[in-house]
Amino acid sequence: MTNKMWGGRFAKGPDAIMSKINASIDFDQKLYAEDIAGSKAHAQMLVSQGIITKADASAITKGLDEIKAEIEGGKFKFSQALEDIHLNIESRLKELIGDAAGRLHTARSRNDQVALDFRLFIRTAVDELCVRVKDVMLALAEKAEAEAATIMPGFTHLQVAQPITFGHHLMAYVEMLSRDLSRMQDARKRMNESPLGAAALAGTSYRIDRTATAKALGFAGPTRNSMDSVASRDFALEVLAACSICAINLSRLAEEIVIWSSSQFNFVKLSDKFTTGSSIMPQKRNPDAAELIRAKPGRILGAFIALSVVMKGLPLTYSKDMQEDKEQVFDALENMELALAAMAGMVRDMKPNQTAMKAAASTGFSTATDLADWLVQKLKMPFREAHHVSGRIVAMAEKKNVFLSQLSLAELQSVHGAIDASVFKVLSVEASVKSRISFGGTAPSNVKREAKRWLKILKVKTK
Ligand code: ARG
Repeated sequence: MTNKMWGGRFAKGPDAIMSKINASIDFDQKLYAEDIAGSKAHAQMLVSQGIITKADASAITKGLDEIKAEIEGGKFKFSQALEDIHLNIESRLKELIGDAAGRLHTARSRNDQVALDFRLFIRTAVDELCVRVKDVMLALAEKAEAEAATIMPGFTHLQVAQPITFGHHLMAYVEMLSRDLSRMQDARKRMNESPLGAAALAGTSYRIDRTATAKALGFAGPTRNSMDSVASRDFALEVLAACSICAINLSRLAEEIVIWSSSQFNFVKLSDKFTTGSSIMPQKRNPDAAELIRAKPGRILGAFIALSVVMKGLPLTYSKDMQEDKEQVFDALENMELALAAMAGMVRDMKPNQTAMKAAASTGFSTATDLADWLVQKLKMPFREAHHVSGRIVAMAEKKNVFLSQLSLAELQSVHGAIDASVFKVLSVEASVKSRISFGGTAPSNVKREAKRWLKILKVKTK
């Protein structure tokens, strides 16, 4: 049997393998709501422009609503022979309302239809992602405010570097996520133009009103070139790029949670809610959620690469290659949302172990820079020389196996005679973090202020 929607010039139906490779209904049925919304807006416009009758338009609208209910009630029979969601819905509409259904596709093509559906779907998903990103930021900022003065080691090369506060560390991710958020919002803004009415590729001779359909579907306006409208998927690429970067950022926090919750570090404790046990080792509490978030960039970045390769070198305008734009995008968006939701839950859930964090912050001679700074400020030493003197003191402490603050004044003076007892004020980890009041520094007063600032922004924004 030839395809009943376009088979007019065909004598024979497709080979079974052809049907299988050609059909997208197994995955593009996800677009049913967008397809119906687009068709309803199109029918409304056609009647307003006097292209179809009121009676046809209302039959179409009613029929589409019925189809939506059928799909949502699990009663709709999707057919592979009808290829995709567009033809499945139109064919069912014909069964329900008869000939009027055939007028819906006036001044439209599946090319602008699929471009529209895909944009609508991704736009909704991006809106949901933005809410999720803000929620992770909120969870982080709340924890940061509570832990603004909790001392932990800051690392470079994963070696103890300088004391910082846990709040400051968490706020670093708030900044990172705020850029992810703004990339997503930016992509949304750019993609918010309606391709509907571009028809196959060249526009149409009917007196359609593209501004009206754009407005009805919540777009800022219509796209300005019919060929670009049906040929472009950079809106999807841009969202995938933003998601990839966000997933990479999340994976770093996830990795830190894995490290922090290990028994060697013991910086945070995750509850039963976001961990799993081992089937053989009864003592285990595994940070599976964090590990899975750490893994998500694999598929999300994978989706970006897959679609980039599909689009690369494609001549204008639509080619069937572009049907391969959907599955990975769906998967990436779904997993991005899941990763963000799990991260928000995990951040709210984790309990810092302040004693272990502070003890670790005191190791590794983490206040050696403070000592050097003291030599510069108090003894007017050039920084390079102070660095050297401080280094010799570290070597002495290392040899004696004590913290810098545990060296006696006499021992310090054996390295440099001008050192006096006021140096001990800067050698503690508390004094160190307190002194870091430069803009963006880790001083608890800074961290509190920044956390409060973000909380205000986020609470206003998420309302
Ligand atoms: N299923 C197709 C897709 O997802 C819809 C567009 C088909 N257009 C066409 N001219 N065959 O890309």
